[in-house]
Amino acid sequence: MSDCLIAPSILSANFAKLGEEVDDVLAAGADWVHFDVMDNHYVPNLTIGPLVCEALRKHGVTAPIDVHLMVEPVDRIVPDFGKAGASLISFHPEASAHVHRTIQLIKSHGCQAGLVLNPATPVEVLDWVLEDLDLVLLMSVNPGFGGQGFIPSALDKLRKVRARIDASGKPIRLEIDGGVKPDNIGQIAAAGADTFVAGSAIFGQPDYKAVIDRMRAEVAD
Ligand code: DX5
Ligand code: ZN
Repeated sequence: MSDCLIAPSILSANFAKLGEEVDDVLAAGADWVHFDVMDNHYVPNLTIGPLVCEALRKHGVTAPIDVHLMVEPVDRIVPDFGKAGASLISFHPEASAHVHRTIQLIKSHGCQAGLVLNPATPVEVLDWVLEDLDLVLLMSVNPGFGGQGFIPSALDKLRKVRARIDASGKPIRLEIDGGVKPDNIGQIAAAGADTFVAGSAIFGQPDYKAVIDRMRAEVAD
Protein backbone atom coordinates (compact mmCIF):
# COMPACT_ATOMS: atom_id res chain seq x y z
CA MET A 1 0.00 0.00 0.00
CA SER A 2 1.84 3.09 -1.15
CA ASP A 3 -0.87 5.75 -1.08
CA CYS A 4 -0.10 8.50 1.38
CA LEU A 5 -2.70 9.71 3.85
CA ILE A 6 -2.35 12.96 5.80
CA ALA A 7 -4.12 13.07 9.16
CA PRO A 8 -3.90 16.50 10.83
CA SER A 9 -4.07 16.31 14.61
CA ILE A 10 -6.72 18.71 15.83
CA LEU A 11 -4.87 18.89 19.15
CA SER A 12 -3.08 21.90 17.65
CA ALA A 13 -6.23 23.45 16.13
CA ASN A 14 -8.06 26.46 17.57
CA PHE A 15 -10.69 24.78 19.77
CA ALA A 16 -12.74 27.99 19.91
CA LYS A 17 -13.65 27.39 16.25
CA LEU A 18 -13.06 23.67 15.84
CA GLY A 19 -15.71 22.96 13.19
CA GLU A 20 -14.29 25.66 10.95
CA GLU A 21 -10.73 24.44 11.54
CA VAL A 22 -11.68 20.89 10.52
CA ASP A 23 -13.55 22.15 7.43
CA ASP A 24 -10.52 24.23 6.47
CA VAL A 25 -7.96 21.47 6.87
CA LEU A 26 -10.11 19.02 4.89
CA ALA A 27 -10.61 21.62 2.15
CA ALA A 28 -6.81 21.99 2.17
CA GLY A 29 -6.48 18.32 1.20
CA ALA A 30 -6.30 16.39 4.48
CA ASP A 31 -7.52 12.77 4.29
CA TRP A 32 -8.36 11.96 7.91
CA VAL A 33 -9.04 13.92 11.09
CA HIS A 34 -6.70 12.74 13.87
CA PHE A 35 -8.56 13.05 17.18
CA ASP A 36 -6.35 12.87 20.31
CA VAL A 37 -8.15 11.78 23.47
CA MET A 38 -6.19 12.34 26.70
CA ASP A 39 -7.46 11.57 30.19
CA ASN A 40 -4.98 13.14 32.68
CA HIS A 41 -4.32 9.60 33.92
CA TYR A 42 -2.70 7.50 31.20
CA VAL A 43 -1.10 10.74 29.94
CA PRO A 44 -0.62 14.02 31.82
CA ASN A 45 -3.03 16.09 29.74
CA LEU A 46 -6.79 16.39 29.26
CA THR A 47 -8.45 16.95 25.91
CA ILE A 48 -11.65 15.96 24.14
CA GLY A 49 -14.11 13.07 24.21
CA PRO A 50 -17.05 11.50 22.35
CA LEU A 51 -19.25 14.59 22.61
CA VAL A 52 -16.80 16.54 20.47
CA CYS A 53 -16.55 13.70 17.95
CA GLU A 54 -20.34 13.63 17.69
CA ALA A 55 -20.43 17.43 17.34
CA LEU A 56 -18.05 17.25 14.38
CA ARG A 57 -20.30 14.66 12.70
CA LYS A 58 -23.35 16.85 13.33
CA HIS A 59 -21.40 19.79 11.90
CA GLY A 60 -21.19 17.78 8.67
CA VAL A 61 -17.73 16.23 8.76
CA THR A 62 -17.84 13.08 6.59
CA ALA A 63 -14.08 12.36 6.42
CA PRO A 64 -12.73 9.47 8.51
CA ILE A 65 -12.24 10.42 12.16
CA ASP A 66 -9.11 8.68 13.45
CA VAL A 67 -9.51 8.44 17.22
CA HIS A 68 -6.28 8.00 19.20
CA LEU A 69 -7.21 6.94 22.72
CA MET A 70 -4.68 7.84 25.39
CA VAL A 71 -6.97 6.71 28.19
CA GLU A 72 -6.90 4.01 30.81
CA PRO A 73 -8.93 1.86 30.99
CA VAL A 74 -9.81 1.78 27.30
CA ASP A 75 -12.83 -0.49 26.98
CA ARG A 76 -15.33 1.68 28.84
CA ILE A 77 -15.08 4.54 26.32
CA VAL A 78 -15.04 2.48 23.09
CA PRO A 79 -18.85 2.11 22.68
CA ASP A 80 -19.32 5.86 23.16
CA PHE A 81 -16.85 6.62 20.37
CA GLY A 82 -18.53 4.05 18.14
CA LYS A 83 -21.86 5.83 18.64
CA ALA A 84 -20.22 9.25 18.22
CA GLY A 85 -19.09 8.45 14.68
CA ALA A 86 -15.45 7.38 15.05
CA SER A 87 -14.12 5.60 11.96
CA LEU A 88 -10.94 4.17 13.46
CA ILE A 89 -10.07 3.69 17.12
CA SER A 90 -6.49 3.13 18.22
CA PHE A 91 -5.35 2.36 21.77
CA HIS A 92 -2.19 1.73 23.77
CA PRO A 93 -1.65 -1.90 24.88
CA GLU A 94 -0.39 -0.66 28.27
CA ALA A 95 -3.86 0.79 28.88
CA SER A 96 -5.80 -2.41 28.14
CA ALA A 97 -5.92 -5.48 30.34
CA HIS A 98 -6.82 -7.68 27.34
CA VAL A 99 -5.50 -6.36 24.04
CA HIS A 100 -7.18 -8.96 21.82
CA ARG A 101 -10.52 -8.34 23.51
CA THR A 102 -10.26 -4.57 23.05
CA ILE A 103 -9.55 -5.02 19.33
CA GLN A 104 -12.67 -7.17 18.97
CA LEU A 105 -14.70 -4.68 21.01
CA ILE A 106 -13.70 -1.84 18.66
CA LYS A 107 -14.68 -3.91 15.62
CA SER A 108 -17.98 -4.90 17.19
CA HIS A 109 -18.86 -1.19 17.24
CA GLY A 110 -18.29 -0.90 13.51
CA CYS A 111 -14.88 0.81 13.70
CA GLN A 112 -11.47 -0.13 12.39
CA ALA A 113 -8.95 -1.04 15.07
CA GLY A 114 -5.42 0.22 15.64
CA LEU A 115 -2.71 -0.56 18.18
CA VAL A 116 -0.33 2.21 19.30
CA LEU A 117 3.33 1.63 20.11
CA ASN A 118 5.04 4.16 22.38
CA PRO A 119 8.71 4.95 21.72
CA ALA A 120 9.81 2.32 24.28
CA THR A 121 7.17 -0.32 23.47
CA PRO A 122 8.77 -3.33 21.73
CA VAL A 123 7.44 -4.34 18.31
CA GLU A 124 6.80 -7.83 19.73
CA VAL A 125 3.57 -6.46 21.20
CA LEU A 126 2.23 -7.01 17.67
CA ASP A 127 2.77 -10.77 17.97
CA TRP A 128 -0.52 -12.69 17.77
CA VAL A 129 -2.67 -9.62 17.09
CA LEU A 130 -1.17 -8.01 13.97
CA GLU A 131 -3.51 -9.78 11.57
CA ASP A 132 -6.55 -8.57 13.52
CA LEU A 133 -5.51 -4.94 13.13
CA ASP A 134 -6.42 -2.39 10.46
CA LEU A 135 -3.71 0.01 11.60
CA VAL A 136 -0.47 0.20 13.56
CA LEU A 137 0.18 3.65 15.03
CA LEU A 138 3.80 4.26 15.86
CA MET A 139 4.54 7.07 18.30
CA SER A 140 7.61 9.12 17.45
CA VAL A 141 7.16 11.21 20.62
CA ASN A 142 5.96 10.25 24.08
CA PRO A 143 2.19 10.70 24.12
CA GLY A 144 0.58 13.64 25.87
CA PHE A 145 1.52 16.82 24.04
CA GLY A 146 1.77 18.30 20.58
CA GLY A 147 4.81 20.17 19.39
CA GLN A 148 7.52 17.73 20.58
CA GLY A 149 10.57 16.69 18.56
CA PHE A 150 10.65 13.51 16.44
CA ILE A 151 12.56 10.70 18.21
CA PRO A 152 15.04 9.36 15.60
CA SER A 153 14.88 5.69 16.73
CA ALA A 154 11.31 5.65 15.37
CA LEU A 155 12.78 5.30 11.86
CA ASP A 156 14.36 1.95 12.62
CA LYS A 157 11.20 0.84 14.34
CA LEU A 158 9.14 1.85 11.31
CA ARG A 159 11.30 -0.39 9.13
CA LYS A 160 10.75 -3.30 11.51
CA VAL A 161 6.98 -2.83 11.64
CA ARG A 162 6.82 -2.34 7.86
CA ALA A 163 8.56 -5.71 7.38
CA ARG A 164 6.04 -7.40 9.67
CA ILE A 165 3.07 -5.82 7.88
CA ASP A 166 4.42 -6.78 4.46
CA ALA A 167 5.05 -10.35 5.67
CA SER A 168 1.43 -10.55 6.88
CA GLY A 169 0.14 -9.77 3.38
CA LYS A 170 -2.71 -7.76 4.95
CA PRO A 171 -3.70 -4.19 4.02
CA ILE A 172 -2.70 -2.80 7.44
CA ARG A 173 -1.87 0.91 7.49
CA LEU A 174 1.29 2.14 9.21
CA GLU A 175 0.71 5.52 10.81
CA ILE A 176 3.35 7.72 12.42
CA ASP A 177 2.48 10.30 15.09
CA GLY A 178 4.66 12.98 16.64
CA GLY A 179 7.06 15.61 15.32
CA VAL A 180 6.20 14.99 11.65
CA LYS A 181 7.11 18.00 9.48
CA PRO A 182 7.67 18.72 5.79
CA ASP A 183 11.42 18.51 6.49
CA ASN A 184 11.42 14.95 7.84
CA ILE A 185 8.37 13.35 6.22
CA GLY A 186 10.41 12.10 3.26
CA GLN A 187 12.68 9.93 5.40
CA ILE A 188 9.71 8.82 7.50
CA ALA A 189 7.92 7.64 4.35
CA ALA A 190 11.08 5.93 3.10
CA ALA A 191 11.21 4.00 6.40
CA GLY A 192 7.74 2.59 5.70
CA ALA A 193 5.00 4.88 7.02
CA ASP A 194 1.99 5.45 4.75
CA THR A 195 -0.20 7.55 7.05
CA PHE A 196 1.11 10.76 8.64
CA VAL A 197 -0.24 12.59 11.67
CA ALA A 198 0.86 16.21 11.94
CA GLY A 199 -0.47 18.73 14.42
CA SER A 200 1.75 21.74 15.03
CA ALA A 201 3.35 21.51 11.57
CA ILE A 202 -0.05 22.10 9.92
CA PHE A 203 -2.07 24.16 12.39
CA GLY A 204 0.99 26.25 13.28
CA GLN A 205 1.08 27.68 9.75
CA PRO A 206 -1.43 30.10 8.22
CA ASP A 207 -1.72 28.22 4.91
CA TYR A 208 -2.80 24.62 5.60
CA LYS A 209 -2.88 23.72 1.91
CA ALA A 210 0.70 24.84 1.36
CA VAL A 211 1.95 22.58 4.19
CA ILE A 212 -0.12 19.57 3.12
CA ASP A 213 0.93 19.97 -0.53
CA ARG A 214 4.57 20.15 0.53
CA MET A 215 4.22 17.04 2.69
CA ARG A 216 2.72 15.08 -0.21
CA ALA A 217 5.45 16.29 -2.56
CA GLU A 218 8.16 15.20 -0.09
CA VAL A 219 6.57 11.75 0.24
CA ALA A 220 6.34 11.36 -3.55
CA ASP A 221 10.03 12.25 -4.11
C1 DX5 B 1 0.66 13.28 21.02
C2 DX5 B 1 -0.44 13.16 20.01
C3 DX5 B 1 -0.11 13.66 18.65
C4 DX5 B 1 0.24 15.11 18.59
C5 DX5 B 1 1.06 15.36 17.37
O1 DX5 B 1 0.31 12.59 22.17
O2 DX5 B 1 -0.80 11.80 19.87
O3 DX5 B 1 -1.14 13.34 17.74
O4 DX5 B 1 -0.86 15.95 18.57
O5 DX5 B 1 1.44 16.70 17.39
P1 DX5 B 1 2.73 17.19 16.62
O6 DX5 B 1 2.54 16.89 15.17
O7 DX5 B 1 2.75 18.65 16.92
O8 DX5 B 1 3.91 16.45 17.19
ZN1 ZN C 1 -2.19 11.20 18.26
